[in-house]
Amino acid sequence: MKDLSDIGVLGMGTMGKALALNLANNGFKVSIWNRSIEKVHKHAEENPDANFYAPQSYEDFIESLARPRKIILMVPAGEPTQKTLTQLSSVLDRGDLIMDGGNALFKITEMNQDALETKGIHLLGCGISGGEEGALKGPSMMPGGDIEAWEEFEPFLSKIAAEDFAGKACVAYMGKGGAGHYVKMVHNGIEYADMQMIAELVHLLNKVYKLSFKDIAEQLKACQDGPLGSFLLDIAIDVLEKEEEGRPVLELILDKAKQKGTGTWTVQEALRLGAAVPSIAGAVFMRGASMQKESRLSLSNKITLQNPKAEMTLGQLMPLLHDATLLARFSHFDQGFQLLEQANKDMDYGFNFSEIARIWQGGCIIRAEMLRPIKEAFESQGDHLLGSNYAANLIQENLNALRIITAELTKLGIPNLAYSGGLAHIEAQIEGRSSAYMIQGLRDRFGKHGFERIDKEGPHHLPN
Ligand code: 6PG
Repeated sequence: MKDLSDIGVLGMGTMGKALALNLANNGFKVSIWNRSIEKVHKHAEENPDANFYAPQSYEDFIESLARPRKIILMVPAGEPTQKTLTQLSSVLDRGDLIMDGGNALFKITEMNQDALETKGIHLLGCGISGGEEGALKGPSMMPGGDIEAWEEFEPFLSKIAAEDFAGKACVAYMGKGGAGHYVKMVHNGIEYADMQMIAELVHLLNKVYKLSFKDIAEQLKACQDGPLGSFLLDIAIDVLEKEEEGRPVLELILDKAKQKGTGTWTVQEALRLGAAVPSIAGAVFMRGASMQKESRLSLSNKITLQNPKAEMTLGQLMPLLHDATLLARFSHFDQGFQLLEQANKDMDYGFNFSEIARIWQGGCIIRAEMLRPIKEAFESQGDHLLGSNYAANLIQENLNALRIITAELTKLGIPNLAYSGGLAHIEAQIEGRSSAYMIQGLRDRFGKHGFERIDKEGPHHLPN
């Protein structure tokens, strides 16, 4: 009888192939499977040294797994995942375990978990971040759901995960139900905002300051080892430097940014819970606007505007841009964490914020040097990041720069929802007396909705 495999990976797309190889490289025997069997055998042939078992049939795949069977699902979220889960639930036995490693909507994960539980099958909903390279060399993983499933998958995940700044595995149990996919969704919301910010920065330097993409890369290199250091900054430099036949590839890329939906879900959740995520929402809106290419082109021909001139020199701009970017990035993280804070209250997930900051330190797309002080702030000062001394100092030191840069971007005609959303988020939350008194006055004036007063108890109305 053949040796049984430790684990199965179902789905041989880019991420599934890389994750299966990562598991095999870490000493596990892995059965691999895919809807079209050619991909299974091709992957096994391309990696002859990997401890893969390439089954001959679906039944063979299921039977090749040691019990309780453990299967990692790496198929696209939505219909493909749902179909695969239905199929699996009819062939697996009570006590078997599935991990959904796709970007599923947390509510669907909860629904799937309930459905599988009736059959005695355990489901772990696990957000995986890091793209192909991360999946192969060490992703950041955000598992949640069935605790028994976590206990069974934990030895595998801890081995293949990236490492945090202290060398620990970037994986931790996030909480019950869809908690893991919820955290991954918010991760992606922050990813959207940070990418939009980098796009605004590059657009300013290229369109207004006329820097070549290569020169922008040189400017950004100076920030790599400091507090702005991050994976997205590193790959931005890489993308800026790419050339094709001596021409920057960025000049050839169409200005339409697609999305798979996680950013939009983040904003929908924020709206449902009343959490403020202005730069995440702005990033989603900007992707939407980017898709209106034809209309933008025709309007740009119809509405002719003077090219605004920059008043600051590059030497004056760059230090301000650095500080503004630092605070805007903090704001994006804070928006994400505040949403998680609200979700905790609403769904009782029991998130551990310093653990979330820790597992985002390595492997994932939003890994950044800033997650070092953020984790420490959560550890020493509680769950409200904005209330930490770290946040207070960062705001004191960089708010002015963020105000100036947002104003510059606006003056120079660069739409800047990432920077201005980042700024508005901070300003709105540190202002002792906001403009909302006027809203209350207006609501009462047209609808007799009443308002509270600062000097007397109870509901009040405007005098006649
Ligand atoms: C990650 C990424 C990944 C996501 C891409 C594409 O953490 O590795 O978030 O999960 O699929 O970022 O997302 P969009 O198509 O929505 O930009």
